Amino acid sequence: MPKIISSLRSAIILMLFVISSSISNAHAQNIRQYQLESGPNGSQLVMRNVMRPEPAANEVLVQIHAVSLNRRDLAVLDRNPPNGLIPTSDGAGEVVAIGSNVTEFSVGDRVAGTFFANWPGGRRTAQALASGRGGGVDGMLSEMIVSHETGLVLIPEYLSYEEAATLPCAALTAWRALFTEGNVKKGQHVLLEGTGGVSIFGLQLAAAAGAKPIITSSSDEKLVKARELGAVGTVNYRTNTEWQKTVLELTEGAGIDHVLDVVGRETLYRAIETLAFDGHIAVIGQLSGRADVLPLGQIPRGASVTNIAVGSRDDFKAMNEFLTEHELRPVIDRVFSFEEAPAAYEYMNTSAHLGKIVITL
Ligand SMILES: NC(=O)c1ccc[n+]([C@@H]2O[C@H](COP(=O)([O-])OP(=O)(O)OC[C@H]3O[C@@H](n4cnc5c(N)ncnc54)[C@H](OP(=O)(O)O)[C@@H]3O)[C@@H](O)[C@H]2O)c1
Repeated sequence: MPKIISSLRSAIILMLFVISSSISNAHAQNIRQYQLESGPNGSQLVMRNVMRPEPAANEVLVQIHAVSLNRRDLAVLDRNPPNGLIPTSDGAGEVVAIGSNVTEFSVGDRVAGTFFANWPGGRRTAQALASGRGGGVDGMLSEMIVSHETGLVLIPEYLSYEEAATLPCAALTAWRALFTEGNVKKGQHVLLEGTGGVSIFGLQLAAAAGAKPIITSSSDEKLVKARELGAVGTVNYRTNTEWQKTVLELTEGAGIDHVLDVVGRETLYRAIETLAFDGHIAVIGQLSGRADVLPLGQIPRGASVTNIAVGSRDDFKAMNEFLTEHELRPVIDRVFSFEEAPAAYEYMNTSAHLGKIVITL
């Protein structure tokens, strides 16, 4: 009799164990993520509970620890993307599982997603440009994501997840403009417009390369911070409406060698007035609308214009080496929690920030 009771007890314990572990497994298989859903005034963020994704043979499962916002993330809301799209291009986290054919990553690696899920390097292709995360394909605002291994890079060891999450779009765009396309050199003058994500990275990268960054802003307070980050010249474009003349004076007539034009219609033509012979204009953004007409007659001899599309995975790896060599720290203006993601979007819309806005998970 005691034998029967004891085996009955063991059976009950086993049953309870099976039930409790299947409950906890069911829990482990659910994650939270934001999806976009169209509403009366464009798309909005909706938090959903979904099944944890599983990596296919060439894919990596990443637990996202931080996401950063870019101006593009606001623009995507107005474009009415398909319902269910996961927003935001930039995220960093830890590898928690890998598919059977993955060779470049192991569980525990610290990684960031590339802006284009499918632009490993070389020339841009239509397929690469269609793979912008959080726009063309699913983004990063999710507790976990899966990515093909060629859509990830290892992040520099000295950076936190919050810092690394600022790199995929803004930093890489500034890198591509200055280094891959511009071949920036020590002593050259670089013009940055405003103190948003791309421009502050442009300032830091230019300063680290020994170039001379000159930056504009609508805020004197932000210009003080820009000087602390290495700007050799600052101009308030709101109080000084002929700011391009002041910029030219700051170069002592030599002119600007590299313009990172993130504003478009309101700045491009003035920036051309500051350009040196053999200078380079990187056409990046349209914060004031697109400058559709290029006045070729006003462009100095030898100058070039490049239309930038962030950068490739190879660019990202090269940038990470440079960042590590210079221990360059991204400037984070404010960190929001995962639950506060809609507030983070609203904050970006005020343009009160300098540098980057981060959401931590
Ligand atoms: N082509 C590409 O590959 C690429 C990649 C990344 C970004 N972009 C584009 O580049 C632009 C900037 O992106 P972001 O994420 O860096 O933006 P962001 O962080 O939101 O930067 C906004 C800042 O730009 C400045 N600004 C706004 N209007 C201005 C004006 N009329 N004159 C001068 N400065 C002005 C303001 O700086 P102050 O407050 O200091 O005045 C504002 O705070 C966006 O249009 C984005 O879509 C393009």
